[in-house]
Amino acid sequence: MTHRILFVCLGNICRSPAAEGVFRARAPHHATDSAGTAGWHIGKPPYGPMQSAAKARDIKLDDLRARQFVVEDFERFDLILGMDAENIANIEALRPIGNQTPVRLLTDFAPNAGADHVPDPYYTRDFDGALDLIETAVEGLATHLEG
Ligand code: 4NP
Repeated sequence: MTHRILFVCLGNICRSPAAEGVFRARAPHHATDSAGTAGWHIGKPPYGPMQSAAKARDIKLDDLRARQFVVEDFERFDLILGMDAENIANIEALRPIGNQTPVRLLTDFAPNAGADHVPDPYYTRDFDGALDLIETAVEGLATHLEG
């Protein structure tokens, strides 16, 4: 079955494009996109250091461009995945009355990784650590969707 999955972070230049890139490489038959709750980086490609860290793992992000999360995304996607609790709160604040699209943390799919969110590498500078966690969670997500 094909799913429509949206990955969401704050700026849409580090964590959510990385998650999209890892996921589309792992499970290319699904429809994917990513978005930021903030509009600061609209139209920009993923942040250079994140692109480099991903490329070292054979994950290409260079075709992706940032956009802002919009209320229509609740209808366009059947699963919305945030990177941290702030992302989830910002998404939920826009949920239309009656909409029931699941909004979850990506790390919910990495229950043994010891992390309850994906720390923002734009601030931590730990791009490889973020990718490690994203790869673990994406594997869990892909397995969940196959099941
Ligand atoms: P992201 O990281 O949410 O993983 O894309 C950020 C990128 C940029 C900013 C914040 C977070 N910023 O403040 O510009």
